[in-house]
Amino acid sequence: MFAAGLLQIPRAFSQSTPPLNLMPFPSSIQPGSGSLKIDSSFTVGLAGYTEPRLERATERFLNALHRQTALLLALKSGEVAKASLVVRTDHASKDIQELGEDESYVLEVTATGAKLTAPTPLGAMHGLQTFLQLVQVSPDGFAAPALTIDDKPRFPWRGLMIDSARHFVPLDVLRRNIDGLEAVKMNVFHWHLSENQGFRVESKRFPKLHESGSDGLYYTQDEIHDLIEYARDRGIRVVPEFDVPGHSTAWFVGYPELASAPGPYEIEKRWGVFDPAFDPTNERTYKFLDQFIAEMARLFPDHFFHVGGDEVNGKQWDANPKIQEFIKEHNLKNNEGLQSYFNKRLEPIVSKHGKSMVGWDEVLDPSLPKDILIQSWRGADGLAAAAKQGFRGILSNGYYLDLGWSAARHYAVDPLGGAAANLSPAEKARILGGESCMWAEYVNTENIDSRIWPRNAVIAERLWSPQEITDPASMHARMEAESQRLEWIGLTHKTYERQMLERIAGPSSPEEFAALSTLASVVEPVKDYAREETAVAEPTSATPLNRLVDAVPLESATSRHFGALVDKFISGSCRDAHDTERLRAQLTAWRDNDSKLQPLAQRSFLVKEVTTTSQDLSALGAVGLAALDFITKGQPAPDDWKVQQLAALQQLEKPKSQLLLMPAPAVQKLVEAASAAGSCSGSR
Ligand code: ACM
Repeated sequence: MFAAGLLQIPRAFSQSTPPLNLMPFPSSIQPGSGSLKIDSSFTVGLAGYTEPRLERATERFLNALHRQTALLLALKSGEVAKASLVVRTDHASKDIQELGEDESYVLEVTATGAKLTAPTPLGAMHGLQTFLQLVQVSPDGFAAPALTIDDKPRFPWRGLMIDSARHFVPLDVLRRNIDGLEAVKMNVFHWHLSENQGFRVESKRFPKLHESGSDGLYYTQDEIHDLIEYARDRGIRVVPEFDVPGHSTAWFVGYPELASAPGPYEIEKRWGVFDPAFDPTNERTYKFLDQFIAEMARLFPDHFFHVGGDEVNGKQWDANPKIQEFIKEHNLKNNEGLQSYFNKRLEPIVSKHGKSMVGWDEVLDPSLPKDILIQSWRGADGLAAAAKQGFRGILSNGYYLDLGWSAARHYAVDPLGGAAANLSPAEKARILGGESCMWAEYVNTENIDSRIWPRNAVIAERLWSPQEITDPASMHARMEAESQRLEWIGLTHKTYERQMLERIAGPSSPEEFAALSTLASVVEPVKDYAREETAVAEPTSATPLNRLVDAVPLESATSRHFGALVDKFISGSCRDAHDTERLRAQLTAWRDNDSKLQPLAQRSFLVKEVTTTSQDLSALGAVGLAALDFITKGQPAPDDWKVQQLAALQQLEKPKSQLLLMPAPAVQKLVEAASAAGSCSGSR
């Protein structure tokens, strides 16, 4: 069904056509001949089943095409008979979007016109996004290559979770990220709405939740309603999460009687796992949750309702004799048993209000009804175990955007990889897909897009495209193209950086600012949970996110490109003169960068903070240049030189100001290549 060489198909297009920058890559492509010219006469016609949502999708499509090309297009759908692109939809999708609806489409582009056919508006909207990705600049205008794409998703659940509790995320920021989800064909926005640090939803039934449990930053019910409509318009379900029984301090500021210790409580400002937890032994807890979930179940129409369930440390339960007595009386063994008891009380409440319960790994218990869905964050094994026990599940382990992993590392994680690869077909079918997660300790309005994009696009591809699409080089090229396109639809993950660097620099000369930009282009924030571990002062929700570590992207494209160039150079026995010159120019610029940045460090504390990193970059450039000199002279470097350089590199690789100097491993390869035992010694 699926040719292994499919990724070569783009090369079957003629030399003059650019590569196909499709992300997620479709399940099948057949090349046609020629291309469809896109000029200001381009129009769209809607045929077959139609509805106002399709008209709005068309207007959005034409607006996006306008921004990509600056062509002055008619921005509404027109006559079908004359349309350049005819969108033919067969029938309506469900009023409340459901898991597993048909999202397929067929897009046929010829030199004279294009036709998009889809069973439902969901597929039609996906096809429109594919068309936008096909449009590229060419020597004689904008054009889309002739081809036929027959496409459908691999998994029905393809989501992004945004934590808007730790840092409040304004609605316009959410909307532009939902636009991003539409662009990459994700279909779930999982909205993490309550935490120790804030309760972010207006409750009319229990107003002290948002009044006392937030700093005034919460979403009104009208705003939530509008956001859900906005997402539905883009083929995206909104799944709310109210995390219980842990991660719940903010609930107890207004309602301390629900907690397992007396209080009083204050909104938490620090990050981490905290003690407050609902009292599962108190009937008031269930009465409250019943009324609260009744209200939220009406507000959020989706069939799934997330109750969190993660990271209950049990300390409040341990300290409460009444709770310990309850555990003994009910033969629950321990705190995990108590949490299972809580979930067994909670599930019928969620179910009574018409919803299926979703929970993080920790809620997994074989005695719960099989209707619940497990979101696996601790490891792929948990997901496989859930599927074996008959539960449906989605994968988030490996898709945590806040951990700063590279796109390639996320891309290599498959919901049916690891332990799940050995499941039976019926068990595999219970794995519905996955969700990337944007936890918000270190994000704000300025940098959040850059923590999500463009890496989220490659997770979207993993969840949409055939499992065999895994080539990292193709992924990187297409991700970079999509990254630019995402800015045209309103995301700010590229443009934000200049503003943040300008704040860090203060008034500066072009040369000084360029030096700061150069440093910013080769560092990444420390990975995983090292941000807490390496902090000088404990970070809190009141800590301004204005440092270089907050400003730089989580993945340094410059360093990745440099690493690829070093690999190419070495695999060619270090002979290529052009590559040698590129490496020399790059390393020289790094070596000389610190002296240009120094004047700024005298004037800005935010630059001063990264002085050591800047000096390290200079040192790194010097080490690389010395290695390159040995290589080009065809003179193997002495062993003691190599030992010295490797020791120096070890120091340079240590994080400073919570930043990692990303080209260090590639420079180490040059040092090794230059040495007597290295692959390039004496090659000249
Ligand atoms: C989680 O990361 N605690 C779900």
